[in-house]
Amino acid sequence: MDHSASSPILIFDTGVGGLTVLGELRKLLPEAPVIFAADQAGLPYGEKTEAEVAARVAGLLGRMSERYRPRLACIACNTASTIALGMVREVLEIPIVGTVPAIKPAAAMTRTGVVGLLGTQATIRQAYVDRLEAEFGNGHRLLRHGAAELVAPAEAKLRGEPVDREAIRRAVGALRSMPDGDRIDTVVLACTHFPLLAEELAEEFGPGVTLVDGSAGIARRIAHLVEGQEFARSVPDMAVTTGPLEEFQPLAPALKSYGIERLERF
Ligand code: DGL
Repeated sequence: MDHSASSPILIFDTGVGGLTVLGELRKLLPEAPVIFAADQAGLPYGEKTEAEVAARVAGLLGRMSERYRPRLACIACNTASTIALGMVREVLEIPIVGTVPAIKPAAAMTRTGVVGLLGTQATIRQAYVDRLEAEFGNGHRLLRHGAAELVAPAEAKLRGEPVDREAIRRAVGALRSMPDGDRIDTVVLACTHFPLLAEELAEEFGPGVTLVDGSAGIARRIAHLVEGQEFARSVPDMAVTTGPLEEFQPLAPALKSYGIERLERF
């Protein structure tokens, strides 16, 4: 499909989790025009039903594609991707890059054979995750914990507010207290919000645990799909929110550090 050089890459998440993907993408494609879309009115997805997430994501991405004419869209949200990726690919004509739990690299890294997985409740119960585990788990143990309660602390951190350490302790404690949980040496951060709390999580897990997420791989996939295309920014990169603009505004400094200059309501 033909696109102009100013046609953006659309990065979609419920909130600031998508920034973990954008950060990696900037390293590879600093020239690429980007629209960062946050479905803050729908956040959190992790506690919604599959039908609710699928309808929301397909509807919003359809409308956003019409309005912004992106050359590619990335669903930078594990919950939305594991549920709605296939459906979105069927309805949109542009390439769609999804975000799936980094079980494959984690299984290659573990030495104890026990891998932890932190995602939202909606992500960890998906058949998509069962398939990844069967295909790439190498017969290792994968201990899953639904920690949607870490989404709000990640959002708070980027607004410059204190992080709820108790929520971090509970999530780590839940994995550790599962059978074989004390042997976990690798943890998949299967929610794009969670790498924003990597420091706090690493502290709580203690030494000897490696945290793995998929953001660098996703950025490489995007770069590969747009290889050879021209980029020229005709307007400053912007972020759009489905929620009230006043509630998005406190994120402006964090968004600016990722090169996002304007905030608008979708
Ligand atoms: N960032 C989303 C993910 O990767 C989850 C946030 C939410 O629950 O809304 O799953």
